[in-house]
Amino acid sequence: MGKDAAQRILFLRDEIRRHDHLYYVLAEPRISDRQYDRLFAELKALEAEYPERVTPDSPTQRVSGRPLEEFATVRHTVPMLSMDNTYNAEELRAFDERVRKGLGSDDYEYVVELKIDGVAISLRYEDGLLVRAATRGDGQTGDDVTVNVRTIRAVPLTLAGLRDEGQRTRDEGLPAVLEVRGEVYMPTSAFEKLNKARTERGEPAFANPRNATAGSLKLLDARITAQRNLAFFAYATGEVEMKASGLRRQASGGRPATRDGEMATKDTGRMPVLHGGDAGEAGMTRLAEDHFTVLTRLKELGLPVNPHIEKASTIDEVIEICNGWAHQRADLDYQIDGMVIKVNRLDQREVLGTTGRAPKWCISYKFAAEQAETVIESIDVQVGKTGTLTPVANLRPVLLAGTTVKRASLHNFDELRRLDARVGDTVLVEKAGEIIPRVVGVRPELRPHGTKEFAVPHKCPECGSPVQKDEGGVYVRCINARCPAQLKERLLYFAGRGQMDIEQLGRALVEQLVDVGLVKDFADLYRLKASDLEPLERMAARSAANVVEAIEQSKTRELWRFVAGLGIRHVGGQSAQILAERFGSLEALMEAD
Ligand code: IVH
Repeated sequence: MGKDAAQRILFLRDEIRRHDHLYYVLAEPRISDRQYDRLFAELKALEAEYPERVTPDSPTQRVSGRPLEEFATVRHTVPMLSMDNTYNAEELRAFDERVRKGLGSDDYEYVVELKIDGVAISLRYEDGLLVRAATRGDGQTGDDVTVNVRTIRAVPLTLAGLRDEGQRTRDEGLPAVLEVRGEVYMPTSAFEKLNKARTERGEPAFANPRNATAGSLKLLDARITAQRNLAFFAYATGEVEMKASGLRRQASGGRPATRDGEMATKDTGRMPVLHGGDAGEAGMTRLAEDHFTVLTRLKELGLPVNPHIEKASTIDEVIEICNGWAHQRADLDYQIDGMVIKVNRLDQREVLGTTGRAPKWCISYKFAAEQAETVIESIDVQVGKTGTLTPVANLRPVLLAGTTVKRASLHNFDELRRLDARVGDTVLVEKAGEIIPRVVGVRPELRPHGTKEFAVPHKCPECGSPVQKDEGGVYVRCINARCPAQLKERLLYFAGRGQMDIEQLGRALVEQLVDVGLVKDFADLYRLKASDLEPLERMAARSAANVVEAIEQSKTRELWRFVAGLGIRHVGGQSAQILAERFGSLEALMEAD
């Protein structure tokens, strides 16, 4: 291959890594997504031309080819411990007392961090290369999710200081083994987009970003994980092994204690495997003497570290920082469920030790779920596309976690009965992790006179047909196949982006088409003429023609989109694709038993 092409490949990889770092670690993007995509496309094309130049750490190699059968199990060399929780300032002060007693001194400081609400992960770098990613699991063993984590662009495949193939320049300061621990999370904006797309495709929405993150990491097909826009923050180290010649720090005790007592061997130039990090064991090998510096070092190595990390020298300062974030968290594009307070100096952590389950040098401070009080002005019953009736509370608008809430789900009639929420009631609405607020409680003492229990409808509120209850009695359904409310929802779903993608067919038009009787089923859509539409509200000749044209266009959609669009229960986009692939035509599918 030409020397120019080889050099260009190396240059492009470095450029892409540099821009990943600018974007994810420094949060200072220098180029547009478009420019980034162009660099990426050029690298991909060159690598396709010279496949022998492809290396596993190339940015093009984040997504692997084939789905896994199952995840392998990984044993954590340093256990991943859990954390004790506190819920108020008093409990934080008690924690501080225990630290003071344990250290027998006032000479310590804390690092206060955000408690990212995602999934804990361990990343293992050997000689600067990401070799394994594992979930926490039970703390002793977790799942090997390397192929999925490699797709997360915020996770570097190589540590900074290590540059490309050929003559690797091994940075002196680069550890032989570095296990980085942190949280994989889904930004709130990515979560909202994902759920919107899933709903449009008829797939169940995730309850909150944490569930979406966990679900995305547990996918056997990493190509899907790659589309989920996961991100990562590093907050600790696990196993660390420095090169004998590199930066090496020992515990204040002096001689490095190892698990098996081996000594460094000359031929590998490595120190024996030492265990430290979170566990706070004696004689661990570390990146630095205190946690704050460890985080700085991780950042220098190219790992994303959350920017909102503060030192605090008194528990009063800690409490002030925690209180501040209880409100400020509404401004973040990721969910936090509290704060984490850690003793900064690593030698002091060793003195404090662990209880086996959790370290004594760290504690979490959990926020109360954000709640607000307001009044139910009315209760609507909505009819879904499969006829399910859902009670929804219309609320006096109230500010909650940064947004104005006007409606809240009452989930189903079972839940409504349990709460006994009535029109006129003062209720508590809550946003805990979940994005859609829910009514969690009623204040009966504030109930005005003359309110009535909300009656479970016997008839569909839209078409008046009798309703049917599910076996469990939780769901109530309108079973009238011709119910106009269901028809409207079904038509809207049919025209949705994930199905037939008929953009011009919005709610206002669908309602009119059903109300005036022009459309009674999907097929009627394809019989519409511009002259039928022109008399409708807000429908000029030009737009009528556009609608007809868009509906006509939708005939060219793939079979699976059509099948998914029919809105059959349990047949979402994914099942529809499988069915279309297996049967090939609508006729064959209709003949199947
Ligand atoms: S330090 C010994 N720092 O919270 C525990 N954990 O409830 C060391 N978490 O499993 C963990 N943000 O997944 C630490 N800034 C942070 C964190 C954090 C979120 C998670 C972590 C842990 C869980 C414990």
